[in-house]
Amino acid sequence: MQILDGRALAKTIRAELAEEVQQLKAAGKRAPHLAAVLVGEDPASQVYVRNKVRSCEKVGFESSLVRLPADTSEEEVLKVVHNLNEDDAVDGFIVQLPLPGHINEVRVTLAIDPRKDVDGFHPVNFGRMAQSMPCYLPATPAGILEMIRRYELPTEGKEVVVLGRSSIVGTPMSILLSRKGYPGNATVTLCHSRTRDLAEHTRRADILVAAIGIPEFVKPDMVKEGVVIIDVGINRVEAPELEKGYRLCGDVDYEAVAEKASWITPVPGGVGQLTVVSLLMNTLRAAKGEVY
Ligand code: GUN
Repeated sequence: MQILDGRALAKTIRAELAEEVQQLKAAGKRAPHLAAVLVGEDPASQVYVRNKVRSCEKVGFESSLVRLPADTSEEEVLKVVHNLNEDDAVDGFIVQLPLPGHINEVRVTLAIDPRKDVDGFHPVNFGRMAQSMPCYLPATPAGILEMIRRYELPTEGKEVVVLGRSSIVGTPMSILLSRKGYPGNATVTLCHSRTRDLAEHTRRADILVAAIGIPEFVKPDMVKEGVVIIDVGINRVEAPELEKGYRLCGDVDYEAVAEKASWITPVPGGVGQLTVVSLLMNTLRAAKGEVY
């Protein structure tokens, strides 16, 4: 079994991004600029946004954080989005989800200019992805593709099983790996909560992408010998024996499944590490005008 080391890969890519920033500056251009909008005080969202801003600093990108109180009206949020759409000093931006209940997330997502939608959540970018047109890919699928590329994992003709059909991970992953080219040209099965005989599907997988948010759901009897495991899950489970009272685990029972796997992503230290890096890569592409 070999480990797909997201942490090391993220470090390598951050170094490459920092180098690109230097080249842009040497050519008299400014550094790429990512803005983030955070509405309210959701603790997880605050951590995620802080991570994104900090990652910008690490590679020399500019960043700005627009913090709005939880009772901000939808109209106000839409105004902020419109201002960012028009701001030539901002290459790309994200509105951190979830938004407070009184704000319609669909309306906000649709208000983002697809040319600045570095999260790849706007349906214009989703549609472009599905048709293999230039687009911003959502960060997690983009990170997984980067991992597949850099480890040169073969995908052509492989049986890929994706667990979970979310619009930001499972569904785009299933489309991306079935597209023409590399990484792609795979035969993809998308499984979800209503799938019958799930293990019948997962046991056929050459590559298994788990993105269902259930701790250690995938057990060794559900996979075949030599499977490549891409574990997208990040779950907190109680661990009274630890000082902090919890541990993090993926959607795959790592210790047990690793014995049968040829490659596996650890949790933490796997896919999650590449997610923020993918957002930075999208922002760089936005700054260079490579997509639109
Ligand atoms: N909430 C959870 N993940 C994400 C993400 O990737 N982008 C945004 N904007 N919100 C999120």
